[in-house]
Amino acid sequence: MTGPALVIDVLTIFPSWFDGPLSTSLLARATAEGRLALRVHDLREWATDRHRSVDAPPYGGGPGMVMRADVWFNAAEAVWNDLPPTVTAGRDRPPPEARYVAGGSRPRTILLTPRGDRFDQAMAEQFAREPRLVLLCGRYEGIDERVHHEVATDEVSVGDYVLLGGEVAAAAVIEAVTRLVPGVVGNAGSTTDESFTSGLLEYPQYTRPARLRGLEVPEVLASGDHGAVRRWREEQARTLTDRRRPDLRAEQAPRGPG
Ligand code: ADE
Repeated sequence: MTGPALVIDVLTIFPSWFDGPLSTSLLARATAEGRLALRVHDLREWATDRHRSVDAPPYGGGPGMVMRADVWFNAAEAVWNDLPPTVTAGRDRPPPEARYVAGGSRPRTILLTPRGDRFDQAMAEQFAREPRLVLLCGRYEGIDERVHHEVATDEVSVGDYVLLGGEVAAAAVIEAVTRLVPGVVGNAGSTTDESFTSGLLEYPQYTRPARLRGLEVPEVLASGDHGAVRRWREEQARTLTDRRRPDLRAEQAPRGPG
C-alpha cells in the first residue's frame, strides 16, 4: 500500500479550530481513504513554563506580545522529524536524530502572515505537487523574526486584510490545495474548467427548473447545440471577467495568430 499523496501538518495554539473544517465531507473522505493525511499540532505542547506561554513582550518595547522563536523552532523540528513534543521541548539546539533543522534542510513550511506573498491558484498548484506541507499559524501582534527566516520556507497571505491569526488563512490554503490532489474531488473536470485555472472567471450555470418566478434559463443551454453552448460560455466568461476582474485579463498572455 502506498502512503497518502500529500501530508499536511498544522501548528496552531487553537488546534480544535480545525475540527470543523477537517471533518467536512470531502476532506474527511479523502483522509479516510488515505489520499491525504492532515495532522494538527498544539504549539503549546512545546511551551516550557507552567502557564504554557508561547509569547513574550517585544524587545525595544511597544504594545502587545510576540510569539517566541524557541517554542516555534522546537515545535517545527519535532513535526518535521516526526518526533513527539517531549523530545524537542525546551531544547536549545536540535536533537541529534533530527534530519530536518531550522535554518537548514526542511520540508515546505508555510507561515501564514499578512506580509506574505499573495496566495493564488498558481501557488495552490505548486503546493499540491509537494509530498508534504507544514502550515504555521501565528497569533497576537506577530512572531519573532527568526521564525520567518529559519523555520518558514514560504510566507503566504490570503489577501490584503488582517485576520486575528493564521487559522482561517491556513484553512483556505488547505482547501485550495487538497482539492487538487487526485481523487479528492470526484470529477476531474470540475477542477480544471473553472475560474482562475483558465485565467477567466467561471461562466454562469443553471439547472432545473427551466422557469422560476418568470426567470428563464438562457435558451442556448437547452438547444442541444454543443458548439453554441461552448461559444456562449466563453463569451459570458470573457464579459464577466472584463467587468469584474480586468486585472486577470491583463495578466493573460496575448494570443498568437490562429
Ligand atoms: N494572518 C493574519 N492575517 C492574515 C492574512 N491576510 N493572510 C495570512 N495570514 C494572516
